[in-house]
Amino acid sequence: MSDRKHLLIVYHSQSGTTTRMADAVIRGARSLGSANVDVRIRTALDATAEDLLWSDGFILGTPENFGYMSGAMKYFLDRSFYECIDRIDGRPYALFVRAGNDGTGAIASLRRILKGLAVREVQDPVLIAGKFHAARLEECENLGTTLAAGLEAGVF
Ligand SMILES: Cc1cc2nc3c(=O)[nH]c(=O)nc-3n(C[C@H](O)[C@H](O)[C@H](O)COP(=O)(O)O)c2cc1C
Repeated sequence: MSDRKHLLIVYHSQSGTTTRMADAVIRGARSLGSANVDVRIRTALDATAEDLLWSDGFILGTPENFGYMSGAMKYFLDRSFYECIDRIDGRPYALFVRAGNDGTGAIASLRRILKGLAVREVQDPVLIAGKFHAARLEECENLGTTLAAGLEAGVF
């Protein structure tokens, strides 16, 4: 039996800044090189329940729109929730959020739904609100590395 671990990264971006965060998260997740972790990347519009069921842990990234996660991320969770309920209990996850000036509504709305899936947030979200400082991308990279390394080491 394979002991490879599976890390899923799902994100949505309309004007590109969340994509920059996602690229950094992906870079971090892959930085372990030969690590025993497979990284699967999906946009929120393409991601399915099967992707969540495949994963041993996952990272979700979204802009805040109208005080909530993006519609595309909500649609992914709408499509996946009932297929995944009771089947991914306890799996570790983390969030990254881009917002014009706030971001707390996106984080709260994601946490509320993910609580229903009984998954475990293992790292504080990376929230880049206001002016986009590229220096903050290092935190995104660290988020990806932490989830991948934690899965590989079995610490979550
Ligand atoms: C329709 C819409 C609604 C938005 N609502 C919020 C909001 O409620 N709070 C906030 O902080 N920013 C809000 N913003 C700003 C976005 O979060 C910001 O532009 C972000 O950078 C978009 O991410 P993206 O570049 O990945 O598309 C909104 C933007 C749009 C287009």
